[in-house]
Amino acid sequence: MVNVDTARPAPPCVLVIFGATGDLTRRLLVPALRNLRRDGMLSPNFALVGIASRDIGDQGFRDHLRKGMEQFQAGTGGSDIDWFAERAHYLAGKFEDPQTFEALARKIKEIEAAQHTGGNVLFYLATPPSEFEIIINQLGKAKLTREARGQWRRVIIEKPFGHDLPSAVALNKEILKTLDEKQIFRIDHYLGKETVQNILVFRFANGLFEPLWNRQHIDHVQITVAETVGVEQRGRFYDRTGALRDMVPNHLFQLLALVAMEPPSCFAADAMLTEKAKVLDAVHRFSPEDAHRNVVRGQYGAGVVGGKEIVPYREAPDVPPRTATETYVAMKLAIDNWRWAGVPFYLRTGKALARRRTELTIQFKQAPLALFRDTPVERLPPNDLTLHIQPDEGMTLRFGAKAPGPAMRIDGVDMKFNYEDAFRSPPRTGYETLVYDCMTGDHSLFQRADTIEAGWRVVQPVLDVWKENGGPKPETYTAGGAGPEAADELLVRDGRRWRSITGQSWADGR
Ligand code: BG6
Repeated sequence: MVNVDTARPAPPCVLVIFGATGDLTRRLLVPALRNLRRDGMLSPNFALVGIASRDIGDQGFRDHLRKGMEQFQAGTGGSDIDWFAERAHYLAGKFEDPQTFEALARKIKEIEAAQHTGGNVLFYLATPPSEFEIIINQLGKAKLTREARGQWRRVIIEKPFGHDLPSAVALNKEILKTLDEKQIFRIDHYLGKETVQNILVFRFANGLFEPLWNRQHIDHVQITVAETVGVEQRGRFYDRTGALRDMVPNHLFQLLALVAMEPPSCFAADAMLTEKAKVLDAVHRFSPEDAHRNVVRGQYGAGVVGGKEIVPYREAPDVPPRTATETYVAMKLAIDNWRWAGVPFYLRTGKALARRRTELTIQFKQAPLALFRDTPVERLPPNDLTLHIQPDEGMTLRFGAKAPGPAMRIDGVDMKFNYEDAFRSPPRTGYETLVYDCMTGDHSLFQRADTIEAGWRVVQPVLDVWKENGGPKPETYTAGGAGPEAADELLVRDGRRWRSITGQSWADGR
């Protein structure tokens, strides 16, 4: 993880981006590279090669970089653009064509000779998943993944990694024919977010909370990733994917793993990844009945989000009008281990909801005894701790306090900590840390084959149930609302309820 106070610039290298003219490169990678360079984290002997099928030439690629810097970062000075322009090269070619990779090998050699990039190459696969296998195969055939002594060759693979358990297993197997596990960096951009990394620090750098972090003291855990965006222009991809595949085995399970894992023996990558894999492995496997009972699917209909009218998902561009793809999913999970037995984990994520809000709530058990006359124990405000991941990163601890006045009335009050107040840091995309860690060979914020497969193993029974006769139809929910009613029911039947996602942000009025 980058700590700009102590970290040193990454070693010299060539970064090769497959899918260089795409959205991800312009929107996230380019601003992240710019931030790294501003923090002095890139070597002066850094070079960039963009590859895509469109023939835009070196100049066209430099213009694309410029747009990325200008569009997404305020106040871009000319010097950043010039710095990258001096180091940026472009290659047009098809990924199925071996000649593309021969040309790439020649280009890398030329750059190495001119820019002394140290023989290190990082290949970034910012392409649709259907291209992953072919690109890695071609890199292998062109001997581009071979590491000479003291030099490295690494590959970053974007999500989604597979579309179910068998395809993820097959993809892992296939790429391991060409690459060694230590050369593979499977990305989940949630792990690049500061506040996601902070979950670990919060748990394991403080003596206060960890003693309470177990079934004796915790009633249940809620994980919410609510988005206001709809499917926008991604209909073609999204309709084949749906909310479950798009968000759950990756982003939501990363959050789940961080909140539920055992402390690793040290902060080395393998120790952390092993604990994550263990907790994901302990998630109770759904039977077909459980998959029906404990998982809810929704699809947004018409509505208004943030004052803007939203057309129903089925009318979005490139979405089939009778589609049963879900844009919302909620589920109740159990973790079968000593720490968590009997503590439900409720997860939900959806598009076109009232507010953008990613947060984890740990709800503690009620006080054991009703000491206060007229306030039965079940009416005491619950103690909960919410970790706000985005936006408005921070933390709220809710507890009961005596409301002023002659009567003994107990109200819930919030103690708030806002990340921004404590640490003023410029906005980041989250990719800075991930790219830098890859350049320095640190796997701690990446996924290992077993963590990916463990995630798919949990959702596979749900995918199977949904596949049968098209599965249960998703419930339509109003865009701009809180999601389908069945999701509320999932908690109500356990005597619980979701934290509201329709109100103002917790950070308002600070
Ligand atoms: C992506 C999903 O991985 O994560 C998108 O494919 C989703 O559908 C996005 O919108 C959410 O990321 P963030 O960083 O905005 O929470």
